[in-house]
Amino acid sequence: MAEADRVPAGINPNVPSVARMYDYYLGGRDNFAADREAAEKMIEIGRRMGNDAREIALANRGFLGRAVRLLAEAGVRQFIDIGAGLPTQDNVHQVAQRYAPGSRVVYVDNDPIVMTHARALLARDPDVLALEGDLKDPDAILDDPRVTGHLDLSQPYAVLLVAVLHFIPDNAEAGRITARIRERLAPGGFLVLSHLYAGNATDDQTQAGQQVYSGTASGGLARRGYDEIVSFFDGLELLGPGVVPVAGWTADASPDGSYDFVKGGILAGVGRVKA
Ligand SMILES: C[S@@+](CC[C@H](N)C(=O)[O-])C[C@H]1O[C@@H](n2cnc3c(N)ncnc32)[C@H](O)[C@@H]1O
Repeated sequence: MAEADRVPAGINPNVPSVARMYDYYLGGRDNFAADREAAEKMIEIGRRMGNDAREIALANRGFLGRAVRLLAEAGVRQFIDIGAGLPTQDNVHQVAQRYAPGSRVVYVDNDPIVMTHARALLARDPDVLALEGDLKDPDAILDDPRVTGHLDLSQPYAVLLVAVLHFIPDNAEAGRITARIRERLAPGGFLVLSHLYAGNATDDQTQAGQQVYSGTASGGLARRGYDEIVSFFDGLELLGPGVVPVAGWTADASPDGSYDFVKGGILAGVGRVKA
C-alpha cells in the first residue's frame, strides 16, 4: 500500500509526530516521511554528542519492561501509562500480565494516531483501556470515569511517565505535574519515570534538538539535568540503582555499572510512596 493510502482520517502526515518519530527510532513501520526526516535530524544531533538515538530508545524500552516486571513481582496490579506511544513489542500490559496475570492497564496519550492503533490492538483485552488524555492535566486523567471504572485508585497503582515529561518544556509545569501525581498515588504506589538528560550537551546541541521538536505537534523538548530529574521523585523512596542512565537498569534492577552519565541520553528511576 502506498504510504499516502495508509494515513488514518484526521491525521496530518506532514507534521512530524513525537510518537511516530519514536517508532522510527525503534525500527517500527508506523511513521511517515516527515517523521523520518525529523528523527534523522535528532539521530545526527545525538551522533555529535557521541550517542546513538536508536540504541537509547531501545534501552529506554528495556528500562520500561524491567520496571514493569519489578513492580508486577512486587505485587502491583494496576498501571497507568501516560505518554504510552504506539504499540510495539513488550507493551506494558504484556509484560505486566506475563509476571502478574490479571493486571489492569490504562494507556493514555495525546496523539490521536496512538489511540487509533492502541484501540485496534487492545480492543479484545478487557483488562486494558486506552484513552486520549493530556499529561498536563493529571487530575483529569485520574478522575476520568473510564479510568476509575477500570482501576481501583484507592489501591496501590503505578504511574508511568516514560520518555514523556521532556515534552513539557516549562520547568515549573513539569514540577507541578509530577508533584500532583505523587500526591495522588495511594500508599504502596509507584512512579516510573524516564527523561531526556542534558549530560554534556552544548547549548547549540540543545537548541538544535529543541528546534526539531518545535516542529512537531508536541511543540517542544527539554533536556534536563540530574538534579532536576531526581526532583521529580521528591519524597519517594528510589528503588534499584536510583536515577541512572536507562542502560544501567538490569533485569533484577541491580546496578551493572556499564553506563555513562556524561554523554546524555535518558535517565530513569522508579520511586515508591513511603509507607
Ligand atoms: C517518546 S514516546 C514514549 C513512548 C513510551 N512511553 C516509551 O517510553 O516507550 C512519547 C509519547 O508521549 C506522548 N506525549 C507527548 N506529550 C504528551 C502529553 N502532553 N500528554 C500525553 N502524551 C504525550 C507522545 O504522543 C508519544 O506517544
